[in-house]
Amino acid sequence: MHIVNVVSAPVEASAGTLTAVVTGATGGIGREIVRGLLALGARVVVGVRSLDKAEALRSELLGGSGGELEILPLDLSNMQSVRAFAAQVADAHPKL
Ligand SMILES: NC(=O)c1ccc[n+]([C@@H]2O[C@H](COP(=O)([O-])OP(=O)(O)OC[C@H]3O[C@@H](n4cnc5c(N)ncnc54)[C@H](OP(=O)(O)O)[C@@H]3O)[C@@H](O)[C@H]2O)c1
Repeated sequence: MHIVNVVSAPVEASAGTLTAVVTGATGGIGREIVRGLLALGARVVVGVRSLDKAEALRSELLGGSGGELEILPLDLSNMQSVRAFAAQVADAHPKL
């Protein structure tokens, strides 16, 4: 597992070595964090409430990057959704 402070510190990663989970990925700061992580070649798991926006994000950000984008549904205002998201992430990425 890599724990990275993407806001205040430079991030060093090589393709295939970094997996990150990002919420709020379809706009604002989250979107720019996803852009930077994909450019580093990271695998980025995004939790989103709009799958349509996430697919648009995939089209916009993934082309040319060495990264991978995994899209999972998540509504942070709904604890049932939060638990389901966490379970899916833990299941798919047991080392996180
Ligand atoms: N932007 C700046 O310049 C800036 C500067 C300093 C501090 N901040 C602070 O940093 C934080 C992030 O700001 P931001 O500009 O990135 O905008 P934001 O409006 O806080 O975040 C937007 C993202 O959050 C998602 N989101 C909102 N409610 C959600 C929910 N219930 N479940 C899942 N996702 C949800 C949105 O999804 P949808 O696309 O589905 O709406 C979108 O992807 C805020 O607290 C802000 O005050 C921002």
